[in-house]
Amino acid sequence: MTTVGFIGSGNIGTTVAQLAVDAGHQVVLSNSRGPDTLAETVAQLGLRASAATSEEAAAAGDIVVISVPVKSFPHLPAAPLAGKTVIDTCNYGPERDGHIPELDSNALTSSELLLRHIPDAMLVKAFNNIFYKHLLSLARPAGAAGRSFLPIAGDSTQARAAVTKFIDSIGYSVVDAGPLTDSWRQATGTPVWGTPYGPYSNEKGQPAGEDAIRAALTAAAR
Ligand SMILES: NC(=O)c1ccc[n+]([C@@H]2O[C@H](COP(=O)([O-])OP(=O)(O)OC[C@H]3O[C@@H](n4cnc5c(N)ncnc54)[C@H](OP(=O)(O)O)[C@@H]3O)[C@@H](O)[C@H]2O)c1
Repeated sequence: MTTVGFIGSGNIGTTVAQLAVDAGHQVVLSNSRGPDTLAETVAQLGLRASAATSEEAAAAGDIVVISVPVKSFPHLPAAPLAGKTVIDTCNYGPERDGHIPELDSNALTSSELLLRHIPDAMLVKAFNNIFYKHLLSLARPAGAAGRSFLPIAGDSTQARAAVTKFIDSIGYSVVDAGPLTDSWRQATGTPVWGTPYGPYSNEKGQPAGEDAIRAALTAAAR
């Protein structure tokens, strides 16, 4: 059993939390408005869920999931994330985040930008390429037919291994997509982003196997 802290508990954070609770993990949720505003979500998730401040959720997690708009990166708590395995689900969108020159110019991936704000975390990019409703409905136990794959990118072997184990426990296998500097291959608008799991109009999604995810990562260009 792992304790998973969440900084950001919206569509994708809550979906990962649901899958984690279903797999027997503990979850500690947080958002920008405070734990009281998460009471209903915690009640729905059940006894393995609680809410806290972002600092407390970061401190509590064996793994911490950051699932916020990119424009919120400067407000994240760096100190309690030092030395932690941290999953970055975030995608850059100028219409929501405003223009960020280093991202517009491709000088940095959004994960590398996040790392500048939490420099001592062991960061792994994951879950950013799948619609949250597909993430919920496509989870399958290990060995089941139609299990889907997710790309992960990260610089720490230790953190990639921890995230692989966690993702396996909640219903997915992974494809290693390389270091954070290569995580643009799974960023917004790339072939592996959304498309392999089917159109958003079909909330159930369609399973995406290892070959499809590898081929989509290879096809990425910029
Ligand atoms: N939606 C998807 O299917 C999907 C899929 C993959 C990746 N993503 C990416 O994952 C990220 C989250 O997406 P989402 O759809 O879950 O967004 P969302 O539903 O809008 O949720 C965003 C969450 O971030 C919290 N937040 C914002 N600023 C914060 C801060 N400074 N400290 C702590 N929490 C903060 C919000 O809390 P408050 O409400 O209290 O402000 C909210 O809980 C985005 O970068 C998005 O591009 C989304």
